[in-house]
Amino acid sequence: MAGAIAALASCATEPQSDIDKKVDDLLSQMTLREKVGQMNQLSGGAWLAETAAKGEVGSILNCVDPAELNAVQKAAVEESRLGIPILISRDVIHGFRTIFPIPLGQAATFDPAIVEKGARVAAVEATASGIRWTFSPMLDIARDPRWGRVAEGAGEDPYLDVQMGVAMVKGYQGDDLSDPTSMAACIKHFVGYGAAEGGRDYNSTMISERSLRNTYFPAFKATAEAGAATLMTSFNEIDGIPSTGNKWLLKNILRDEWGWDGMVVTDWNSAGEMIAHGFSRDLKHTAEQAVNAGVDMDMMSYGFIQYVEELVAEGKISEKEIDRAVRNILKLKFELGLFENPYIDESASAKVDYAPKHLEAAKQCAIESAILLQNKRNVLPLDKARTILVTGPLADAPYEQMGTWAFDGQKEHTVTPLAALREEYDVIWEPGLKYSRDKDTKDFAKVRNAAARADAAVVFVGEEAILSGEAHSLSNLNLQGAQSELIAEVAKAGKPVVVVVMAGRPLTIERDLANCDAMLYSFHPGTMGGPALADLIKGKAVPSGKLPMTFLRDAGQAPFYYNHNNGGRPCNGTETLLEDIPIAAGQTSLGCTSYYLDSGYGPLFPFGYGLSYSSFEYGRPVIENAELERDGTIRVSFDLKNTGRYEATEVAQLYVQDKVGSVVRPVKELKGFQRVTLAPGESKTVTFELPVSDLAFWNIDMEYVVEPGDFRLWIAGDSASGEPVDFIVK
Ligand code: GLC
Repeated sequence: MAGAIAALASCATEPQSDIDKKVDDLLSQMTLREKVGQMNQLSGGAWLAETAAKGEVGSILNCVDPAELNAVQKAAVEESRLGIPILISRDVIHGFRTIFPIPLGQAATFDPAIVEKGARVAAVEATASGIRWTFSPMLDIARDPRWGRVAEGAGEDPYLDVQMGVAMVKGYQGDDLSDPTSMAACIKHFVGYGAAEGGRDYNSTMISERSLRNTYFPAFKATAEAGAATLMTSFNEIDGIPSTGNKWLLKNILRDEWGWDGMVVTDWNSAGEMIAHGFSRDLKHTAEQAVNAGVDMDMMSYGFIQYVEELVAEGKISEKEIDRAVRNILKLKFELGLFENPYIDESASAKVDYAPKHLEAAKQCAIESAILLQNKRNVLPLDKARTILVTGPLADAPYEQMGTWAFDGQKEHTVTPLAALREEYDVIWEPGLKYSRDKDTKDFAKVRNAAARADAAVVFVGEEAILSGEAHSLSNLNLQGAQSELIAEVAKAGKPVVVVVMAGRPLTIERDLANCDAMLYSFHPGTMGGPALADLIKGKAVPSGKLPMTFLRDAGQAPFYYNHNNGGRPCNGTETLLEDIPIAAGQTSLGCTSYYLDSGYGPLFPFGYGLSYSSFEYGRPVIENAELERDGTIRVSFDLKNTGRYEATEVAQLYVQDKVGSVVRPVKELKGFQRVTLAPGESKTVTFELPVSDLAFWNIDMEYVVEPGDFRLWIAGDSASGEPVDFIVK
């Protein structure tokens, strides 16, 4: 045994071809049972040692105890016939111990560098505890804020999704997977999971091939090309075909078209769930379909380990398919250096968890992720107030502040806004409500009286962590409990009111905006959310965050996203609203455009929106050459001026519209962004260079081309602003 491992161990940093040779050598020694054992992923720890000793566990998830992991690894490496190490995995979604803002908040930074840094911190901490594979980044395009899992992704835009996904893959995997601080990324959930009808998790999706290619594939293709080591199939079915059994997706697209050679794992029992979908007769049938569709590893359906040998014997799965799957699994294990270093230094994590530089990175990310939605009378920053009221159920909620999928973050390390604000102000603390769903208003009088004694009030509201994330869809997006009433109560005191929302999704907060002067939106900001928000409230930092998702007036407007098609009767401002309809009105078509009688058209805040304590003036964009060849580059410049009194960072966004296409095109699409920091009064000429090839799309003939014609571009601080400038592609 030891000899086999030693012989193999030297290959972790050898060129790929030597690893392929070692994989083939090992494969040639394996029995079918041992091969199927590698395809089996189980949730658990030391109690799996007996199964591991039989070589029947390829990977485990959900154990983060180094001693337990070493015990089960020892069984695999020293007791099984071939000693193949187990690949240890975990959902490290936005930090391991040091929790960063949820991914939707990280997307709001529009700062790939800080996101990559966060992923690197997560990898350093997670690998110290033995985790070498994370099920992240989640790349699902968001289409509906009722879907609780918008918290885990980068929002509604494919371009932003690409930037954030690639940054996370780079951060997790580093430059060399065999580096002990590197962990394999897992791009998920392939594909279209965020298009669940009604925003209800696990629901059907109806996505055309063209929409898949133009909207849902880009981030998966870009992260695959960036070297993502693994991919996870999604729970949903697309037009009746569950992704876990979809050969077109897992072979034709992933392998044949993209040439990706990573490892494919199912989602939790997503193979077994094909029975419930009505796609499989029984568990054995699911294993046949999943393996033949291109799945390599089965997460927790037990179908592979129970039936694949039988299916091979019956000729329903070829051993060639099995070898393909096992080759992908073994290749990853060699690349990670597991044969050389299968065990964990059980003292390592204490040296890196919550390191000061990790906490500083998490704080900076939380600062950049906060979005200033309103600031009437420039109430923020509260740089003159001495005594402030701090109230609301999210002001001192160390666990909730970490947000969803923060498994291994320890709330004892969370610094809450209450704790941080106490360092800056004389704080009167009156919670008002105990938790976000609390409806008990008995303490409101105390809050109102406290507000009267303060110079200003800061109200922390939002969602408990559990209210977003997997399986947690909501049909109503208003603040839960009596939170809106609490804000209104505080407003009665007539003092400046700042509301801070900590949530896992865009909530419908229009009525709350009416009852406050300023609102900062902070998607669950993580361990250092308190110090970050205190710095922003005090004015030590200036908000720069921008919305990665459209904010709705009402959940009934969903799905609504900025990069929509125009339709044949777009809203044109002539719409008749409910209150304007005469009583007993005769039969007529009012408005005749695409809108709602009761909530009109258009969102509360558009994608890309976010204010600053300063203000910015955008000069009209100037295109160097307004007639371009298809192999050309669009060079467009504009002057950006900081017209306020704070040094501040603006995220300038470049949007493009293809005005006429062989198929209709979105009204606009984000094609670039730049973070520009300017001193008060400073002006700078900013240039975007956009290859015309970036305007390609999948057209009427299902070809990926740039079609010649008229285009329009905008450069602005959000997706609804800016003066358009036209150009032509010849
Ligand atoms: C869950 C999620 C997936 C996660 C996996 C393992 O059901 O859908 O995102 O990585 O199971 O926890």
